[in-house]
Order: sequence, then C-alpha cells, then structure tokens
Amino acid sequence: MKVNVKNHAMMYPAPAVVASAYDENGRADACTLAFATMCSHHPPAVMIAINSTLKRKTLKSILERKEFCLAFAGIDQVSEVDYLGIESGYNEDKLAKINFTHQRAEKVNAPIINEFRVSLECRVMHISEVGSHTQITGEIVNVQADESVVDEKGKIIFEKVNPIAYDDITHSYFSVGDRIADAFKAGLKFKR
Ligand SMILES: Cc1cc2nc3c(=O)[nH]c(=O)nc-3n(C[C@H](O)[C@H](O)[C@H](O)COP(=O)(O)O)c2cc1C
Repeated sequence: MKVNVKNHAMMYPAPAVVASAYDENGRADACTLAFATMCSHHPPAVMIAINSTLKRKTLKSILERKEFCLAFAGIDQVSEVDYLGIESGYNEDKLAKINFTHQRAEKVNAPIINEFRVSLECRVMHISEVGSHTQITGEIVNVQADESVVDEKGKIIFEKVNPIAYDDITHSYFSVGDRIADAFKAGLKFKR
C-alpha cells in the first residue's frame, strides 16, 4: 500500500556541491548546494538553483560575474561543506575560516578551491526564476581534477572522488556506495 507523504522538493541521490564566485571586490564566495545537476551534453552544462528570496551572497556574485566554479567534495570534507552551507559570506571569509585556499580558475574569472579534488569552470548561459529559486545554467568550459583521482586514460575515478550525497528530508549526508553494474549494459537482457 502507498501512503501520501509531505510534498517536498526531492531527488535521489542529491549532491552536496560547492559553488564559488568572486564578489564585486574580488573576494571569493562559496556556498553549498544540493540543487545541482548536469543538464546538457552539447555543450556540457550544469544547472544550479539558489534561493533568491533569502539573501545568498554567492548568488549575487554569480549573477554579477556570470562565471562560477562548481566543486565536488569528498566525504572526508563533509564538515567544511556543511559549514559553507550554514554561514554566509556576508558575515565571514568562509574559505579562510576552514583554511581552504583558492586561485583564479584557468578559463573563467572565478575562484577554484584547491582542496576540492574536482571542479567545473562554468560560464552562465541561462538564468530563469522558478518559484523561490534562481536557476542558473552554466556551460562547463573547463574541468580541473587532482591527479590522484584521474586514471591513466585521463578519466575521473568516481570511487576516488567519493562524493557526498545529501538527503533534504532528514538533513543528512551519505556516502554513495558501491559500483553495482555497467550502464547501457545492465538492461540489455530486456532488449529484444
Ligand atoms: C547541505 C546543504 C545544501 C544546500 N543547498 C542549497 C541550495 O541548493 N540552494 C540554496 O540556495 N542554498 C542551499 N543551501 C544553503 C546555502 O548554502 C547557505 O544559505 C549559505 O550560507 C549561503 O552562503 P552565502 O551567503 O555565502 O552565499 C544548502 C545548505 C546546505 C547545508
């Protein structure tokens, strides 16, 4: 039997990722986002959504600069990721507080946070208002990854990134788990 549960924005799995941008004074902002997903192959693009009714400094900076980075943290960085999501850049230099360093990204004028092992460099290509949130689509113009998470063919090794999954229902962080099958192959047995 099915039951109705509280109507809530949800997605499984949802990530906890970190968006970063420079403010009007060139100071690096960063905030944690669960509303984030890939949305185009050609060009490669991601979509993030930031609450526009509450005042998020990172949103202001991204809208002004039209460029941002999106970083994938590992489960060992969960406290830092959480902090970036519970404090505002209006009150603190958050990256300095957690002893994280940053530098200008290669292809966009946005801060890349060195401690995160994979970062996307994004240029804003589309903005739309959806309910409480501003949805920002960013074209990925460059990807930077630590050597330690890249194999000999130049591919990022998912298990080494060990990204954080987030559950907005219980406000909990999870690790993602084991590899279970080959995509585009596991379903072949049902194909005639
Ligand atoms: C796990 C987690 C996920 C979050 N996801 C989002 C999100 O997708 N969109 C959003 O607007 N805020 C989200 N937040 C809240 C912002 O990260 C938070 O308000 C942050 O303090 C904003 O910082 P800023 O003012 O420096 O930009 C999330 C917070 C946490 C802890």
